[in-house]
Amino acid sequence: MNKAAPGSLLGIEHLEASEILRLLALARRMNPRKPRPLLRGKRVLLLFYEASTRTRSSFEIAAKSMGAMTTLVLSSGSSIEKGESLLDTGYTLQAVGADVMVIRHPNAGAPLLMATHLDIPVINAGDGMHEHPTQALLDAYTILRHRKTLKSLQMAIVGDIYHSRVARSAIHLLSKFGARITLCGPSEFLPEVATSLAPGLHITRTVEEAVRGADAIMVLRVQKERLAGTKLRLQDYISRYQMTMARMKLAKRDAILMHPGPIIRGLELTWEVADCPQSVIVEEVHNGVPVRMAVLAKALGKAR
Ligand code: NCD
Repeated sequence: MNKAAPGSLLGIEHLEASEILRLLALARRMNPRKPRPLLRGKRVLLLFYEASTRTRSSFEIAAKSMGAMTTLVLSSGSSIEKGESLLDTGYTLQAVGADVMVIRHPNAGAPLLMATHLDIPVINAGDGMHEHPTQALLDAYTILRHRKTLKSLQMAIVGDIYHSRVARSAIHLLSKFGARITLCGPSEFLPEVATSLAPGLHITRTVEEAVRGADAIMVLRVQKERLAGTKLRLQDYISRYQMTMARMKLAKRDAILMHPGPIIRGLELTWEVADCPQSVIVEEVHNGVPVRMAVLAKALGKAR
């Protein structure tokens, strides 16, 4: 098996803290409103096997604001529908001249497989229940706009943690910097070995305990079909885990409320919480662009 091309970003788990800090510093220097031809003539291939709004559009805008060309290939409407394998699709897209591939796939490990067979850098835009590294980077970037440091940050993550690549990448990133992370959700939604995932990881039974004194709260989307696989009815989930203003008040006064989106108002959070002054949900989306600019620039050897 080959090694992934330099500049590939497959996950947060194996990144050094210093590499994360370098990417965040580079993102701070990026301004999508002031286009720079840093990636002029480069071809960014966006290969999406799963639905996406934020990740896809922000990668595209990030690439275009640095002068790159983008091509979007969706699984529906491409030869993937005809049964072409992942690797054959990868070889095809490399052959048409892609310089970097951004891939989202329902199976964990798909970006790694691509990266070890292709010669171009591969960026993971979310793979199954594994990782979503650019989301963790934009979350860290967002937190650091509101807090000086990630060290000792008290972070509560509430919802379907087990199925969430967003939570997994966030846990890897935040624990590298000494954050204290509390997980809360129905037992079916908690990783079995959660506490061994990272030092400084706690599980609480109630949302109230998780949120008390938190600097940041991350609420995750709950899929109704997954809820159906638990003992909880929708109404029980709402009454036990929904983020409400009353629960938010248990956190620090200036705590921020995060959510990777898409949000389902009235389920994992109330309408009021989604729009409250502490909510940085829209800011997270906004910050996704400079962060993805930095990741693309690094992938293409233009990180200076
Ligand atoms: C998430 C994803 O696809 O992993 N969304 C995102 O990229 N911001 C979260 C989700 O779908 O619940």
